[in-house]
Amino acid sequence: MPDNLAVPAEQIREMGRAALDLVAKYYETLGGRPVLQPTTSDALRAVIDEPAPAGPTPFPELLGTLRDVVDRYSRHNAHPRFFGYVSSPGNPVNTVGSMIAAALNINVTCWRSGPAAAEIELLTIRWFKELLGFPESAAGLLVSGGSMANFAGLAAARSAKFPNVVREGLRGATPRLYTSSEGHFSIRKAAAMLGIGTENVRTVRVDDNLRMDVADLARLVAEDRAAGHLPFCVVASAGTAGTGAIDPIGPIADFARSHDLWFHIDGAYGGIAAIAPSAREPFARLGEADSLSLDPHKWLYLPVGCGCILYRDPATARAAFSENADYTRVVGLENDEAFAFWDYGPELSRPFRALDLWLLLKSVGVTAISEAIEENIACARYLSDLVNASDDFEMLAPVDLSIFCFRYKNFDGDLNAFNERLMFTLQQSGSSYLSNTTVAGKFALRGCVLNYRTTRKDMERLLDDLRSVAALLR
Ligand SMILES: Cc1ncc(COP(=O)(O)O)c(C=O)c1O
Repeated sequence: MPDNLAVPAEQIREMGRAALDLVAKYYETLGGRPVLQPTTSDALRAVIDEPAPAGPTPFPELLGTLRDVVDRYSRHNAHPRFFGYVSSPGNPVNTVGSMIAAALNINVTCWRSGPAAAEIELLTIRWFKELLGFPESAAGLLVSGGSMANFAGLAAARSAKFPNVVREGLRGATPRLYTSSEGHFSIRKAAAMLGIGTENVRTVRVDDNLRMDVADLARLVAEDRAAGHLPFCVVASAGTAGTGAIDPIGPIADFARSHDLWFHIDGAYGGIAAIAPSAREPFARLGEADSLSLDPHKWLYLPVGCGCILYRDPATARAAFSENADYTRVVGLENDEAFAFWDYGPELSRPFRALDLWLLLKSVGVTAISEAIEENIACARYLSDLVNASDDFEMLAPVDLSIFCFRYKNFDGDLNAFNERLMFTLQQSGSSYLSNTTVAGKFALRGCVLNYRTTRKDMERLLDDLRSVAALLR
């Protein structure tokens, strides 16, 4: 096995066979394992802590640690009953692809840095534009995730509405940005990083279904204009992280247009569901956004590390991000071959993220993805039906997409505290995994179906698991 950095070909094959064996076994045994193996920080440190190694460790020994420690003590986001947060399960095609991406090690800063990789990224962006109704003239790029996509979209919004901001800063202006009380915290973080200030992020009320109340948006914008502030952008959620609520995209688009506001849509969780029949109607006007965030590492089942931002007008992205220096000046290339991704987003060095997108979409096709998303939505609705038909659970929010929020109700006492204990004990049990949110002041058991392995049987099992845990706790 290797004892220096340049490993001979036969040893590479040997390492690869052993690693792929581990990978295949992982996928083969996943469904029968606990979602989570409880441990502690002390216990893990006792196994892995050591001084920085001065010399080599044989590869089989390293694989052993990956199997016995990392694999064993990780939460398995690909498990069919892992319903926490908004987590993609990843997929085997991309697992294998990541090995190739690491071997090629392309740094996709611009076209000349990796002509084929750049063209593949531009192609995948064209696919998104086509699938989501964006104009052909729009632009976009892949970023690290939804938070970075929201940052990039709001940077474009800021320089579109304050053309001198990149050079001069905001010079005491108070730009106002609007999102609902259910908007993701990455919007506030972006506002902080862009010098807009979180105090200038106005919280729009939501209706009983937790969707943005457009009348309240109108009230806040009018109030701010009258006070001399500068409303410049509204952010709608195409599926909130808390309950999956879809803001009324069409009415917000109309309002933004008639009030000269940039219209950004945070579609990190739900945007890609527009390709599934059930979500087509509420997402019919996604393509009217000035910028749209997507997260292929959520509902396109990609492994962590791939978000996407689309800009209706490429010039707005360039106004926010374009930079040049002697050490990056393009020499001898023109037009498409002079294209630089750094003109469209915050990063310079970028991994070959489009490989995952291209590999998965080409290998299974959009129809299979659309069907998997549709089945995820159906599973969430099925859970909601089971809850509504039960006498021990109650739903706390409607199911707009694949997130479901509910609670156990057969307990005389503090239901919030009981459900909190119920969730934690369920997580430790290892059979199913939910996370939490608060709906109208009530602690909610929150699940999100985002896994092509999850079936209706898993939804039934989830309620059975909760009942078993509740019986122990009561
Ligand atoms: C609606 C929404 N926006 C933004 C984000 C942030 O995305 P990321 O975790 O990829 O940065 C999330 C994450 O769950 C989300 O659900």
